[in-house]
Amino acid sequence: MFKDLKRFTYARKLKQWREEVQPIPTYFDGLENLCDRLHPDKLWLQISDIKQLSPDTKLFRFVPARSTKVLAPFRAGQYIGLTVEINGVRTSRPYSLVSSPNQLAYYELGIKKEDGGFVSPYLFDNAKVGDLFEATGPLGVFCYNPIFHGKDLVFIAGGSGITPFMSMLRDFSERVVPLNIWLLFGCLTKEDILFREELEEIQKRRPNIKGTFILSEPSQDWTGETGFISKDKIMKFIGSVDDKFFYIVGNREMYEFVLKELEELRIPNHRISHELFGVPKDITKTMGWPEGIDVSKKVQITIDFIKSGLKEKKVIEVSCVEPLLNSIERAKELGIQINSGCRSGECALCRTKLLSGKVFVPPEVIIREADRDNNFIHPCISYPLNDLHLEILFNN
Ligand code: FES
Repeated sequence: MFKDLKRFTYARKLKQWREEVQPIPTYFDGLENLCDRLHPDKLWLQISDIKQLSPDTKLFRFVPARSTKVLAPFRAGQYIGLTVEINGVRTSRPYSLVSSPNQLAYYELGIKKEDGGFVSPYLFDNAKVGDLFEATGPLGVFCYNPIFHGKDLVFIAGGSGITPFMSMLRDFSERVVPLNIWLLFGCLTKEDILFREELEEIQKRRPNIKGTFILSEPSQDWTGETGFISKDKIMKFIGSVDDKFFYIVGNREMYEFVLKELEELRIPNHRISHELFGVPKDITKTMGWPEGIDVSKKVQITIDFIKSGLKEKKVIEVSCVEPLLNSIERAKELGIQINSGCRSGECALCRTKLLSGKVFVPPEVIIREADRDNNFIHPCISYPLNDLHLEILFNN
């Protein structure tokens, strides 16, 4: 053992000496460093500025903090998962990046205070300049793809759903990308139109970008469009649907409404892309929810996991109308933190093995074939229908 220690000390000195006389060239800095920089598992962020955007939405600016020296590059339209701890419950939520990907001095997120929400009201009311947060690296595939999306794009945003489009519009206008863009932005009132000045200014600078605001609860002095983003409004604004690619971001109700309108305009699915964060408000009203489930009954979840290198097994009782991930996070006594990003079944970060039992997953969620074949579920969007046995593989 003494010999090993001597050898180790010698090797370390030799390494130090080599690095001093012959520094490792930066281009040979190790591929892992580059991968870490491009796709970090975690980022540490600090709030450097907060701005009120509307009565219920704030803009948070984050700069790198702690071990995070530089922010990871991202594509306009991507999001990060922001981790918070509220009354001992550690959880995360995805928020689209609003800032332009052409600068990495900071990230910006526009966060709307959701009625009855858990995280957004906390951030809206409590987060202050200087606060530190752990976050995922940029994630998501809701981005412009020049090969499949063509050059004529229709952006349909509802409320805070404007955030990923803001990043795209900033990006395209800064780089003068030759795309034709029509933005239909639906809000309740004119006070809810986020980034109004900047959007109007972008349109002035770039005639290939056109926007219209549509208010569903306009005040008397509003002279613009009113109502919902119906097929008539879409056609009136874009003229023709030929060769156009459609993007939709908004809450579930808005998304379902707009999707029906696009169906009536005979837009095929492959010409529509959407970003839909969050879970249905009432899962029992979702198509395919099995009949005869007693929603007042609790089910038992047995969880195998590894903590401090040791195998553990715990049992908790949960409701079948709440996503499993929320129930597990709320069971503070477990001390389990499952990785998560999108919390809507897309990123697969929360992948967990289902050893026995049955879960309900909303039909619009696409589970990868490999996950399905190997009995992996995404607890962020899975609801337990009976007693379950889970094995958690990626405990934070
Ligand atoms: S957190 Fe993304 S799939 Fe569950």
